[in-house]
Amino acid sequence: MRTFINSSISLIALILISACGRGPHNPVDGDFKLDKANRPTAGQTVSAITFADVKPIFQKCTTCHGAGKANATDWLDYSSAASKKVQLMDRVIIKGDMPLGFKLEKEELKTLATWLKTGTLPEPDGSVADTPENPPIEAPVDVPVEAPPVVQPTEPTAPEAPVVDEPVSTPWPANLISIKKIFDESCLMCHTGAMPNAPDWQNYAVVESKKDRIYNRVLVVKDMPMAVTITDEKREIIKNWLDGKPMQITPWPEKYSNARDIVAVNCTACHNADSGLPNWSDYAVVESKFSEIRNRLFVTKDMPYSGPMQPSDLDIIKNWLDDVAPKELE
Ligand code: HEC
Ligand code: HEC
Ligand code: HEC
Repeated sequence: MRTFINSSISLIALILISACGRGPHNPVDGDFKLDKANRPTAGQTVSAITFADVKPIFQKCTTCHGAGKANATDWLDYSSAASKKVQLMDRVIIKGDMPLGFKLEKEELKTLATWLKTGTLPEPDGSVADTPENPPIEAPVDVPVEAPPVVQPTEPTAPEAPVVDEPVSTPWPANLISIKKIFDESCLMCHTGAMPNAPDWQNYAVVESKKDRIYNRVLVVKDMPMAVTITDEKREIIKNWLDGKPMQITPWPEKYSNARDIVAVNCTACHNADSGLPNWSDYAVVESKFSEIRNRLFVTKDMPYSGPMQPSDLDIIKNWLDDVAPKELE
C-alpha cells in the first residue's frame, strides 16, 4: 500500500521532498545537483508521482499514439514520454488541445502536470528509483497548488473490472457487434433481467463479469441457450471471443471497395481492432454505425481527427452511405 500525501502539503513541498533519496548517477542529466536544503526532514514520508502513476492516463492515448498510429510517439514508453515533457506540458496542460476527442479529468491533469514538473524515474516495477529526475520544467501556468492525489498504479493493459451492481447499463463495445447479435437472437428472450437468475445480457458489465459462467453453460454443459437451438458455428464464435482470440471480421462487400479503400486510408490508423474505437475494417461494425458515420463526416464534420478529406473521397463515402443506409431508413 502506498502512503497517501496529506492534502495540505503544497506542490512546492512535494517538489522539495521528491528530491530525496537520489543516487549519484543520472542517466538524464549528469550535472543535476542535489540541494541539501531540498531534502525532507526526518519522519516525513511522501509518495512522489512516478511514471507508474501517469501510465493509466497515457493508456487513454493509445488509440492514436504508438507505432503505426496517427502519431508515432508511444507515451507508455518511458523514454519517449520523458524526452517530450515540454511538448506534453505545452499540448496537454497549457494549450489543452491534446488528447483529441475527449477531455482528461481534472485529477488526471493534476497528476500529469505534477509528474511533468517533478516526476521521478521509475524502477521496472514502477516504484520510485534511486536516481535523480529530469530537471523540473518551468511551465508558465498555474498548475495545481495543492498536493495531487496519488493515482493507484494499476496495470494499464488490464481492462477495468466492471462493477456488476452498477445501476446504469454498460453498452456492448462496438467491435463486439457480431457477439452481441448472437446474444440478441439467442438469449435476450430470457436474459433481460426480468427472469430470476437469468442475468441481463444487455448490460455488457454483467456479461463481462459472467464470462466464466457463459463459457460453462454454452460450451461445456451446453444447456444454454435454453429452448433455442444455436449452430455450432455460433458456439465457435462465442468460444473464440471467450478465449480472447481476435474477432473474426466481416469483409466489406466487394461493390463498396472504393469506399472501403478511402476509409482504410483515412480512418483505420485510429479505428482498428486494437484501438478500442469502432473497427471500420469490420463491415459488421460499420453497419452498426451508419448513422454515426454520416453524422460525424457530414453533419458535425469533426471526423477524421487527422485532418480534412479530399472532397472527391467524401463524395464516394456519401454515395455509399446513400446506397446502404438511405437517410429516411435511419
Ligand atoms: C484521436 C487521436 C489522438 C488522441 C486520442 C491523442 N492524440 Fe496526441 N496527437 C494526435 C495526433 C494526430 C498528433 C500529431 C498532430 C499534432 O501534433 O496535432 C498528436 C500529437 C500530440 C503531441 C505532440 C507530439 C509532438 O511530438 O510534438 C502531444 C504532446 C500529444 N499528442 C499528447 C497526447 C496525449 C498525452 C494524449 C492522451 C492523454 C493524446 N495525445 C491523445 C492524435 C491524438
Ligand atoms: C428460454 C430462456 C433462456 C434462453 C433463451 C437462454 N437462457 Fe440462459 N438462463 C435461463 C434461465 C431461466 C437461467 C437461470 C436458471 C439456470 O441457471 O439454469 C439461465 C442462466 C444462464 C446462465 C447462468 C447465469 C449465472 O449467473 O450463473 C448463463 C451463463 C446463461 N444462462 C447463458 C445463456 C446464454 C449465453 C444464452 C444465449 C446464447 C442463454 N443463456 C439463453 C434462460 C434462458
Ligand atoms: C486521428 C484518429 C482518428 C481518425 C483518423 C479517425 N477517427 Fe473517428 N474517432 C476517433 C476518436 C478518438 C473517436 C472517439 C471520440 C469521439 O467520438 O470523438 C472517434 C469516433 C468516431 C465516430 C463515433 C463512433 C461512435 O461509436 O459513435 C465515428 C462515426 C467516427 N469516428 C468516424 C470516423 C471516420 C469515418 C473516419 C475516417 C474517415 C475517422 N473516424 C477517422 C479518432 C479518429
